[in-house]
Amino acid sequence: MQILLASRNPSKLRELRDALPSWEIELLVTSDEPVEGGETFAENARIKARHGRLHAPADAWVAGEDSGIEVAALGGRPGVASARWTTRHVEDLLAALEGFVDRRARYVCEIVLVAPNGDELAAHGTLEGVVALEPRGSEGFGYDPILVPLGTSATVAELGDRWKAEHSHRAQAARELARALAAAER
Ligand code: IMP
Repeated sequence: MQILLASRNPSKLRELRDALPSWEIELLVTSDEPVEGGETFAENARIKARHGRLHAPADAWVAGEDSGIEVAALGGRPGVASARWTTRHVEDLLAALEGFVDRRARYVCEIVLVAPNGDELAAHGTLEGVVALEPRGSEGFGYDPILVPLGTSATVAELGDRWKAEHSHRAQAARELARALAAAER
């Protein structure tokens, strides 16, 4: 399977390749970027995929991926605004949770794949956890130094890329997408 990922994020590309080693995935970087005006991860993933489809070769399968972190004590924020609510993701989320006992949070990932004929497939993944009191670890990106997945005592940045390829919200969505594609082709 060859797909183009409508994204400028090399970390997302690396993680999708790790999760789907038999797929050939390349970034599709377009001159203009779509406006991520959706209210849900699914809407924004679709906006990215549809925008990428307009710029891609006619025979290409194009994926849009939208992801972020939902924090319980913040009513689910930053959610779809995870990339843009601040430039200092880790520091500002720790500050926002200062004094909170409830530190539950989850990563969410939505992927929409658009076929050359315009048909769509969608897939979803989540990773539940709590926000650590301070950053730890050096792998991954974004909020990884402060998310401690349920059932572990390490942050995602400490657990590392190989752990993410197995367990992350993105890996789960990627594998669900592969299953949906296999079912659609039957
Ligand atoms: P997007 O490019 O609009 O989907 O932004 C996603 C944002 O959510 C990223 O900039 C990160 O801050 C955060 N995010 C999504 N997935 C992950 C992850 O796997 N680890 C850490 N942060 C993530």
